[in-house]
Amino acid sequence: MSLAIVILAAGKGTRFKSPTPKILHTLGGKPLLQYTLDVAARLAETPPVVVVGPETADAICAWAGERARYVLQSERLGTGHAVAQARPLLEGQADHVLVLYGDMPLLRAETLNRLSQHHAESGAAVTLLTVQRDDPRGFGRIVRDAAGHVRGIVEEAEATPEIAAIRDLNTGVYIFDASFLWEHLPRLQPSPHKGEYYLTDLIGMAAEEGHTVDGLLIEDDSEALGINTRVDLAVAAAALRRRINEHWMLAGVTITDPASTYIESEVTLGRDTVILPNTHLRGQTAIGEECEIGPNTIIADCTIGNRCRVTASVLEQAVMEDESNIGPFGHLRKGAHLCRGAHMGNFGELKNSTLGPGAKMGHFSYVGDAQVGTQANIGAGTITCNYDGQRKHPTIIEENVFLGSDTLLVAPVHIGAGAKTGAGSVVTHDIPAGSVAYGVPARVQRKNGT
Ligand code: UD1
Ligand code: CA
Repeated sequence: MSLAIVILAAGKGTRFKSPTPKILHTLGGKPLLQYTLDVAARLAETPPVVVVGPETADAICAWAGERARYVLQSERLGTGHAVAQARPLLEGQADHVLVLYGDMPLLRAETLNRLSQHHAESGAAVTLLTVQRDDPRGFGRIVRDAAGHVRGIVEEAEATPEIAAIRDLNTGVYIFDASFLWEHLPRLQPSPHKGEYYLTDLIGMAAEEGHTVDGLLIEDDSEALGINTRVDLAVAAAALRRRINEHWMLAGVTITDPASTYIESEVTLGRDTVILPNTHLRGQTAIGEECEIGPNTIIADCTIGNRCRVTASVLEQAVMEDESNIGPFGHLRKGAHLCRGAHMGNFGELKNSTLGPGAKMGHFSYVGDAQVGTQANIGAGTITCNYDGQRKHPTIIEENVFLGSDTLLVAPVHIGAGAKTGAGSVVTHDIPAGSVAYGVPARVQRKNGT
């Protein structure tokens, strides 16, 4: 069954009170529209048609680019009118048309697959996705006959009190038989109260003409949540967070306080990893097995191996190999790399640098643009002076180096394997392997000990 997808997104999103189009505001680290585009990409090969309005068209097209095709609805005359704008691009292209929204981010592709299956099996003119909620506000009510067959949808603005009390609701998502859709869209009349062309009126038409109209009820009503305000955005964020947290808990991750755990959708976690409270895992982050992450930790776009520990630290675009650990109060910046078993303790900062296997940097240090060898020990308060005001310079610290507390390494500088520095040394020249240097500026101790 060939399926074309229309995404309605011509609304102004006025209630967001923002110059940024509503559907480009982010939820869980991604713009709202991306959720719908991702779902669409899983259901149909051809890019969906997004119906855009004049106020937001430029920004939306610029953001989504070739992931979609676009039609402009220059006047906001209702959902029926909006779908009609897509007709020139879609008529004759597919047997069925799925209608989605740019502001309904929690809808699952699995649900739409079921809808599509249902539609194919029943041969209906239209199959709608329905939801039951205690609070029906904002939704079209589904009117059924005594046998339970859908007779039509009545919009809230047009509903009598009796109909307004119905709890069987229209999510606004449908699959139409394409020929039924294109034939009947031009027959829509403006609604009595709002003067809009309601797409929902097609349901009544289909039923009246004796076509099959089918409905599929979604169990998780968060899927039908439409984002109209930033209050809705927060509700959606909480629902999404719950969904993601539950997914990982069922996959074998312990989350001690889901209410204060924020895991974005692209993050992956290994079995028996424990996430402690107030932890934020963002972007393209992958964390291995048996790690302990948090509390009070932010990790963005990092790769972390197995059996690592991250305590009260901030990590971005960094790599931690197996059994390495950081914190409390460490900061890994872009390009930081802790090799297997490396340790970074209190108040350390590492940028564009590698701490070799088993290397230690325990207290108050800044290491930037440096390579630190195996088992090296970076004394408390060590600083790489890597920036001369114009350029960044590298520092090489070979294996088994022992830097005394408060060593300043004025880059570019090379510390040979096994060398040592005295406390408070200011190192301005390379130090040969196996030697000891100290002082300001640091001088290498002569073999006779003077
Ligand atoms: C619509 C449905 C309602 C359903 C509800 C679910 C109609 C007439 N009603 O109502 O039965 O329960 O969604 O949320 O369809 N849009 C356009 N162009 C327009 C009008 C709307 O692109 O001219 C887009 C909006 O950007 C929005 C979506 O369509 O994404 C829904 O429009 P909205 O006006 O919010 O419809 P509802 O009143 O919520
Ligand atoms: Ca709406």
